[in-house]
Amino acid sequence: MLILGIETSCDETGIAIYDSDTGFIEHSLHSQIAMHKEYGGIVPELASRDHIKRILPMITDVLTKAKKTKHDIDAIAYTKGPGLMGPLLIGGCVAKSLALGWNIPAIGVHHMEGHLLIPMLGNTEIQFPFVGLLVSGGHTMLVEATDYGSYKVLGESVDDAAGEAFDKVANMLGLDYPGGPAIQKHAQSGNPKRFRFPRPMTNRPGLDFSFSGLKTHTLNAIADCKKNANFNDQSIADIAYAFEIAVVDTLTIKCKRALEATGCSRLVIAGGVSANTRLRESLVQATAKLNAKVIYAPVDLCTDNGAMIAYAGYYRLRNNIKDDSPTEINPQPRWPMDSISY
Ligand code: KG4
Ligand code: ZN
Repeated sequence: MLILGIETSCDETGIAIYDSDTGFIEHSLHSQIAMHKEYGGIVPELASRDHIKRILPMITDVLTKAKKTKHDIDAIAYTKGPGLMGPLLIGGCVAKSLALGWNIPAIGVHHMEGHLLIPMLGNTEIQFPFVGLLVSGGHTMLVEATDYGSYKVLGESVDDAAGEAFDKVANMLGLDYPGGPAIQKHAQSGNPKRFRFPRPMTNRPGLDFSFSGLKTHTLNAIADCKKNANFNDQSIADIAYAFEIAVVDTLTIKCKRALEATGCSRLVIAGGVSANTRLRESLVQATAKLNAKVIYAPVDLCTDNGAMIAYAGYYRLRNNIKDDSPTEINPQPRWPMDSISY
């Protein structure tokens, strides 16, 4: 079965084809980062216009690269939410129009379910139960996944998402967006002994997260350096390290807790922040001590992409879930993860 996946929840147009028989993925991604850069954040209207401009040529391009035609496609999966209303509407409109014209089903996919399942690409069957750590620019949560569509939220951020904290701290340090890769790079030459930042909400029970206090702590460290006239490259690297390791330790402590609380022996990490090398290393070590296994996607499939939507769409279709109406477009800018049903 061939599924065309369309991702347009935010500032990336992602198109992919997933072949369920061979596991083959052909995908193409356009990031709008450069376009939004001069505004210091994503401008939803510009994002929408850019998706409109790129989406059809990219679909044609992916079909050509995969040596397929529209007649080979069995279903179209698209991001139904959560995300920005305009971009979601565009992906939804294109997906449903093509599906209607090609006489195939359209499948609305939850963006975070796409992130959660894509690390399992290449496994013939996804094995439940597992604990999922979802860490992206918009979400930080721990879920217990017991079946397709059965995701119990165990804990989440009460303020900033982990990726958002990376982006804001990078901005304070004068580093480029997206902040995660920039902080990871600078942290490599950081002195681990110079600063120790707090590990928020780890000294009390529970699986929720909070990153805004850590952000303020980081801002104060930057202000101190500036006051003492030593805000130089080494200080940037030292602060980047202290921030990164504080986030990594915090996420690791909570993942261990979630594995112990649920009795699961598999931890799936997903979303843009799961590309972080130090986080991966830390979780590999922590899970080994619990006789558990950590599973993550290749770096290029951690951040937003069309492959994760095609892949999650395949599992929805296999469970006989598809859009009821061929014409109704019903984006869900806010869509709680635990209300996805199969
Ligand atoms: O999943 P994603 O592409 O988009 C959302 O759904 O939000 O995640 C983007 C986030 C950004 O905040 C970015 O800074 C972060 O993922 N990120 C990273 C790394 N690569 C991307 N954070 C830490 N380390 C990285 N290597
Ligand atoms: Zn995402």
